[in-house]
Amino acid sequence: MREETLSKRIHLNAFKIAGVGHTAIGLWRHPDSQAHRYKDLSYWLETARTLEKGCFDSLFIADFPGLHDVYNQSSDAAFRDAIAVPLNDPLMAVSAMAAVTEHLGFGVTVSTTYEQPYSFARKMTTLDHLTNGRVGWNIVTSVTGSAARNLGLDRQVPHDERYAIADEFMDAVYKLWEGSWEDDAVVNDPARNMFVDPAKVHAANHHGKYFRVPDAFLCEPSVQRTPVLFQAGASSVGKAFAAKHAEAVFLVDPTVQGMAKLVSEIRALAGGLGRDPSSIKFMAGVSVVTAPSDEEARRKFDELIRYVSVEGTLARQSSLMQLDFGSIDIDRPLEFVETDGIRSFLERFTKGDPDRVWTPRQVAEKMAQSLGAITVVGSPATVADRLEAMMEEADLDGFNLYDHMPLHAMPDFVEHVVPELQRRGRVWTAYEGRTLRENIAGTGSPRLPADHAGAGFRPRSSIKRLHDAVAV
Ligand SMILES: Cc1cc2nc3c(=O)[nH]c(=O)nc-3n(C[C@H](O)[C@H](O)[C@H](O)COP(=O)(O)O)c2cc1C
Repeated sequence: MREETLSKRIHLNAFKIAGVGHTAIGLWRHPDSQAHRYKDLSYWLETARTLEKGCFDSLFIADFPGLHDVYNQSSDAAFRDAIAVPLNDPLMAVSAMAAVTEHLGFGVTVSTTYEQPYSFARKMTTLDHLTNGRVGWNIVTSVTGSAARNLGLDRQVPHDERYAIADEFMDAVYKLWEGSWEDDAVVNDPARNMFVDPAKVHAANHHGKYFRVPDAFLCEPSVQRTPVLFQAGASSVGKAFAAKHAEAVFLVDPTVQGMAKLVSEIRALAGGLGRDPSSIKFMAGVSVVTAPSDEEARRKFDELIRYVSVEGTLARQSSLMQLDFGSIDIDRPLEFVETDGIRSFLERFTKGDPDRVWTPRQVAEKMAQSLGAITVVGSPATVADRLEAMMEEADLDGFNLYDHMPLHAMPDFVEHVVPELQRRGRVWTAYEGRTLRENIAGTGSPRLPADHAGAGFRPRSSIKRLHDAVAV
């Protein structure tokens, strides 16, 4: 019964950045914009409370650890339109948000290209302890050359090699999270003069091509051990990575058909690796503009659209695709070239639809006018109808709602659309799980499932105990 309810449930996540401009570039100019308040803790606490009121699974925070500086080979457009700059660290507000909520999860974006597994794993475990098991990780490989230059490299690592690094990074963190400490390593026993039983702690013993982590993990295991793993791979190596590691996949595609294709491809790849294909949850990026009536929602959307910046969007797409749209004719058809940017974005507008040719200007206009994602505009009933239809058409598990107008878009959604979806029995009226993994996966366990790659790194004795627990 529980599974049946969960499989029909629409998972809700909110998608933000710890800065001003994210996907809907230019809306910072709207007179009601609160985006500049990203640096106030009150902004984050208010957001978290709103999302928990709407029973969202998680708040998701994007990150780009470098400037968007491809357009005209300059970061001027990024500064002018606040495109991921100024940008704060995505992890810092999480403990504070956890203190004012009980159930909401937090997905933070961290790059495998620039972190060290040993220190990164410690940060995530710390957050998992402090949030009581409510942390997720958006695994990214980072696209900007600026991040590479400022984080110790001469130039960007090629696209496919970034994924090879990410794959080894995963092995190293699984060894720390899953393999290093047995469940009963912490004994806290004054009579035996022993806080941790050293026999129950194991060296990570990772000696790879890119990383070396010889010693044991510094942290004792947190509730989830491995944070919930989110990913958004869409290139061929990206899909293979998602199929192996992701527990939830973010989709961004201008068409539902494109999403459906990606969902079926990744589910098939996951099945080929011995994973339950339905255990991967697919969340589609959508921007919802809603109001009590269709007319009011349309007026609100028309008003928003007045402020979007097509040039800013072009500059952002330049960076994501790593193609300088400032130095080419943006009215000529876009052609596929192998860049080290987000390859699938370029593929989508060059090979995605054989009947449609896109120019860079049209791509920017489309992305600007859709507020960076598929846009759904309307009354609560209209929005709910559309979301339900997309769930079926693309075999989705839920949505990643872009917070295009911070402190407005999410409260509108929670006030208007959530009650409608609750009436239809499609979203929760109260949280069912304790941890983010329980809420997202619906398996009743805070731990990675046994068919996941990370579970293979558990020490043998822990595997036996987990099996015993399941058998009981
Ligand atoms: C909803 C969504 C959010 C993303 N957020 C980030 C992000 O915060 N930082 C980042 O570097 N990449 C981000 N990406 C890009 C992905 O990590 C990935 O590079 C992209 O989906 C394309 O995958 P590909 O490289 O396999 O083509 C995001 C992608 C999607 C769909």
